[in-house]
Amino acid sequence: MEKARRDFLKAAAALPILWKTMAVYGDEGSLRDDVEETRLINQDHKCRFNLARYAAPAMENLRVGYIGMGNRGFASMQRLAKMEGVEIRAIADCYEYPIARARDYLAGIGCRPPAEYYASEDTWQDLVARDDLDLVIVTTPQWWHAEMACGAMEAGKHAATEVPLAYTLADCWRVVETAERTQRHCAMLENCCYDFFEALTVNMALQGVFGEMVYGAGAYLHYFPLSVIFEEPMPPFSKKVGPYRLALSHMEKGNRYPTHGFGPVCKAMRINAGDRPDYLVSMETDDFVLKKGFEEILKQGNEYHKQFAGRTFSSNLNISLVRTVGGKGLQIQWGQTSRRPYSRMHELSGLDGYVQKYPLPGRIYFGDEPVGEDRMRELEEQYTPELIKTLQEDAIRFGGHGGMDFICDYRLVDCLRNGLPLDITAYDAAAWSAVTPLSLWSATHGSQPIPFPDFTGGTWKENPPLDLSLRGGGTTKVKAD
Ligand SMILES: NC(=O)c1ccc[n+]([C@@H]2O[C@H](COP(=O)([O-])OP(=O)(O)OC[C@H]3O[C@@H](n4cnc5c(N)ncnc54)[C@H](O)[C@@H]3O)[C@@H](O)[C@H]2O)c1
Repeated sequence: MEKARRDFLKAAAALPILWKTMAVYGDEGSLRDDVEETRLINQDHKCRFNLARYAAPAMENLRVGYIGMGNRGFASMQRLAKMEGVEIRAIADCYEYPIARARDYLAGIGCRPPAEYYASEDTWQDLVARDDLDLVIVTTPQWWHAEMACGAMEAGKHAATEVPLAYTLADCWRVVETAERTQRHCAMLENCCYDFFEALTVNMALQGVFGEMVYGAGAYLHYFPLSVIFEEPMPPFSKKVGPYRLALSHMEKGNRYPTHGFGPVCKAMRINAGDRPDYLVSMETDDFVLKKGFEEILKQGNEYHKQFAGRTFSSNLNISLVRTVGGKGLQIQWGQTSRRPYSRMHELSGLDGYVQKYPLPGRIYFGDEPVGEDRMRELEEQYTPELIKTLQEDAIRFGGHGGMDFICDYRLVDCLRNGLPLDITAYDAAAWSAVTPLSLWSATHGSQPIPFPDFTGGTWKENPPLDLSLRGGGTTKVKAD
């Protein structure tokens, strides 16, 4: 049995086109197999096309298709509609009502009507098959991201997904392999990399202002009451949208949402660009909230909730530690069920300086005390990346988590329009998302270490660090209101 499964995985790795999404929300056992066996199969992965240095030919007019017109898709589409040189050519969902909202919005601002796909949850395949799209943006629930991104790349389009890229190592590898083979981009829209303070301090770390960087910590600590986690999707909504997604993301162990905190910290620590994760250990608390609360909810006899009976629930707090091959340390925390202030931690520690944000506003230290307001302003003036400085006003105007969503979208569009490499490649997306399966494995194996895959296939040694200057780009104009 064991051998048969391994043989199957080997065959699947050799035939990536047939490599279907595995164990996406399977039982815990299959998720563990995913980690143990997928890692073994791919441990000798060699880069066949370096995505970190890849710049696709410039495309002055970027023709975009969206899959998933819910909250994130609709908001992103509104932002892209404000950028010159972008045309929303096609939109897909599995319901008409999100499509109708997008259709009305685009008509209201005088855009050409996009082609619409909403016949079923598979009609996104018709969208990716079109011959007039350059980029497909995937804003569906996360268990679809890898499948849809690979479908888009196989059809010759660049892809960008919402976070996380994937929940399994098999899917992380599948995306990397598909991107390298098809020579298409697969970006991940990790908006927190463009938060003003995070971008400032990541840039300072990369410029050496804090001396040699030795440690970074990120988190997604965001309290949600049970009534929100188990909220029943309302008609005409179905389980394919919002509340169901939130409930389901609490049905396994491990860190279920790592990229917001981990992404910026990885960029500051030159992960995939001079260093790489070596191994991960993870420990988590019991669940003190979900099981107990859910039993009470079940007693109300609601049909929707019955599907979650007997499931494993996530912990109150998962803490994972990563040691890099360069001997540095990273920490990632996740928790959504303890009442506490929101935090992405964002802690960066170098030999000469230190940064911390959350729950207090961001502070920078070169000793015991944070720098004062005047010094802070000087540092902001000197080190705020050109991208952020240039777009700050538009970003605040158009919003999206204080403006970072706008900058994230703008940057993707502008890099593609100008033929520049992307800030967040499939290697980054895979490494940041891999924390979920690796932490699940370690936390359920007595916190044993688990080797961290090298998605870059060895190219991390020479790949360049994040550069948020506008060199070669910044030409995309934002339309007046
Ligand atoms: N970056 C961020 O700050 C941030 C914030 C919230 C959510 N997210 C991520 O964004 C993604 C979407 O979240 P959301 O809040 O927009 O969810 P949502 O439920 O509002 O929207 C998802 C949409 O996808 C559609 N959909 C589902 N299956 C589909 C299929 N097979 N084909 C076509 N359409 C399909 C749904 O009908 C829905 O309209 C999630 O992966 C989530 O993790 C990111």
